[in-house]
Amino acid sequence: MSKAPNNFTQRVLSGVQPTGGLHLGNYLGAIKNFVPLQEQYESLFCVVDLHAITTWQDPSDLISKKCEVAAAFIASGINPDKSIIFNQSQVPEHTQLSWVLNCVARMGWLNRMTQFKDKAGKNKENVSVGLFTYPVLMAADILLYKATHVPVGEDQKQHLELTRDIALKFNNDFNKEVFPLPEPIIMKKAARIMSLRDASKKMSKSDTSDFSRISLTDSNEEIEKKIKKAKTDALPIPDSNRSLEDMPEAKNLLTIFSACEEEDFEKTFDKFKGKNFSELKRDLTEVLINKIGPIRDEMKKLNNDKKYLIQILNRGSQKAQKISIKVLKEVYEVTGLTL
Ligand code: TRP
Repeated sequence: MSKAPNNFTQRVLSGVQPTGGLHLGNYLGAIKNFVPLQEQYESLFCVVDLHAITTWQDPSDLISKKCEVAAAFIASGINPDKSIIFNQSQVPEHTQLSWVLNCVARMGWLNRMTQFKDKAGKNKENVSVGLFTYPVLMAADILLYKATHVPVGEDQKQHLELTRDIALKFNNDFNKEVFPLPEPIIMKKAARIMSLRDASKKMSKSDTSDFSRISLTDSNEEIEKKIKKAKTDALPIPDSNRSLEDMPEAKNLLTIFSACEEEDFEKTFDKFKGKNFSELKRDLTEVLINKIGPIRDEMKKLNNDKKYLIQILNRGSQKAQKISIKVLKEVYEVTGLTL
């Protein structure tokens, strides 16, 4: 693998939480964009169960949720022989490094994290401490492998900035360039997929309406029904891009279309400008079934063989640990923790 200018191996790391109910937003906004990275970088893709338990998770189905993420990775085209697909909790170095980084990160930095504020809301006194230090664990995930690049969507940008701040302070405090400052890979084609019922909200598994999202387990009929029911704007699709700004529903459906087709948004817009929503919906249904159908079928097949998925995760975790042990050792040495 090639080296970055500062001599760090070009390495990508990203994580997906096993909270169940993966949907189109997870696929188009994250997982799909990981796939081409494995050609260019040494790549690690992590099932971050320790992040998931910052809010309560039912122990009896956590394993199957972890398997679901592994299945989605593989069904989407991440090759487990090329990339390291692994499980965070099986590599204890994540929590070990996380503690050291907790002692580097400042309260003021964490107090500024908008995701914590959004998630805690009015309930600030009653959420887990883990939810507060969540971004430090994320920094540990990244720095434990000296990852140089992290594919991020809009909502994780601030956490990556924090990771860079922690890396820089660590290097300064201990007077050694232990960690690279990881660069974001802004996923250009990564679509921000919004709810099908209200395009001002992100598509989410916690929305009470099942019609707000397309799940990666939806049948072709369900996909068709959901697109048919998807909210539309009052007017047909406009002729100019500018008027599209006031039409969030049209924008969302066109974004989904362009992401599935891997074509520029402009090109998709050109196809449908001035047309009725019914035409867009008809074509979008077809495109979605072609894109999601095979992934859904493959995920189902993989999910029927949990043993295989667990084996992939365990094998990946061993490979990951080979790297992480060395980095943690270096961290213990420079911080004076080694006996
Ligand atoms: N916080 C990320 C999310 O919810 C998941 C995550 C955990 C992650 N560790 C990471 C993403 C490291 C990138 C790199 O989407």
